[in-house]
Amino acid sequence: MYKLAAITGSLRKESINKTVMEEFKRLSADRVEMSVLDIGSLPLFNADLEEGGDPEAAAVFKETIRTADGVLIVTPEYSHGVPGVLKNALDWAGSMTNENVLAQLPAAVTGASPSALGTSLAQVQVKQTLTACGSFVLPQPELFIGAAHKRIGDGKITDEKTIELMREFLASFYTWLNRLTD
Ligand code: FNR
Repeated sequence: MYKLAAITGSLRKESINKTVMEEFKRLSADRVEMSVLDIGSLPLFNADLEEGGDPEAAAVFKETIRTADGVLIVTPEYSHGVPGVLKNALDWAGSMTNENVLAQLPAAVTGASPSALGTSLAQVQVKQTLTACGSFVLPQPELFIGAAHKRIGDGKITDEKTIELMREFLASFYTWLNRLTD
């Protein structure tokens, strides 16, 4: 079993990206033990807060990533960029002033949005940040779940093609994890 730290870049209760993460959890249950991380309780990153030890929420968050084989990120796109809550979480995890738990960690990034481009611009930014932190980011396949309002409803993925693409994405991530973990 792989241990994955799962981060969703939306705090919304009815988030379509949370639905995608839940589907990944279901599809990977036979091979993955997934810990879905709480990024909403992280304080705004401030290196001063690291002095004398991380705040509790950040310590728990970082420990889960530290002990994982990889990280899976499913994110929305806000104003053609990465949502602030997700960037804040990555700033805690990849801290240059304390331990960087993203270094040399396999990572995969995807996301869903109603637009045709399906979070492609946000994903580029997230991958850039992960790369700066030294993560090994799955380069292919890219998975942009566009027109998500037609594919996701009532907390479920309603489109078989999307589920198939998610399976392929997971299969490539398993290969990536297999190559990069002991
Ligand atoms: C959006 N949305 C959006 N979508 C997109 O594809 N590109 C974008 O640049 C933006 N920008 C944007 C900004 C802000 C402030 C909001 C609130 C929304 C729409 C967004 O994809 C949609 O609301 C999703 O449903 C958000 O994801 P969750 O919360 O459902 O996972």
